[in-house]
Amino acid sequence: MRVAVCISGRGSNLEALIKALPPGSPAEVVLVISNRPKAGGVFLAQGHNIPTHILADPADPAEWLTVLKAHDVGFVVLAGFLKKVPEPVLTEYRWRIINIHPSLLPNHGGPGMYGMHVHRAVLARGDHESGASVHLVTAEYDEGPVLARMRVPVQAADTPEELAARVLKAEHKLIVDAVLAAAAYKGRAVSFNLAER
Ligand code: GRF
Repeated sequence: MRVAVCISGRGSNLEALIKALPPGSPAEVVLVISNRPKAGGVFLAQGHNIPTHILADPADPAEWLTVLKAHDVGFVVLAGFLKKVPEPVLTEYRWRIINIHPSLLPNHGGPGMYGMHVHRAVLARGDHESGASVHLVTAEYDEGPVLARMRVPVQAADTPEELAARVLKAEHKLIVDAVLAAAAYKGRAVSFNLAER
């Protein structure tokens, strides 16, 4: 399965995928898409000789579909990608675009809920657990059906940074398992229970 990973930032989830999916794996990262030319994930991809594409206009479906087709991409992962995917792309890649989010959705998702904002909200509400979620991407931020979640405990004295680091470790496991699960179903994203795997 040929996978494109879309990023806007440092790309640690991208790195987890690249490491877990060497050439010959059932899924392989063949393209990295970014809206930011200087995002850490872009340099990371270049260091691994993975083709990169910087979107001139993230809202232009034709640009997306041209680059995805040019690289024969069958599955798309949003990993810290902060723009919306245009609807015609969602339609063309129905069931084949997933996002990773650093909370137990449906808690703490939606517009503006990204990065440290999420972890601050978890602590402010006094939640005893947080985690990572993988969901299908739809037209609204973080609203598509949740496919898999992985729980992590919140410690009483956690700072947002400490919680973020703990959740990020879970993300790195969950994203790899989600992509491998999709590869096992011929590129169709499927729900699974991490605890049972
Ligand atoms: C992750 O927490 C991810 O869940 C969220 O953005 C962050 C990206 O981190 N959507 P990285 O760029 O993969 O390191």
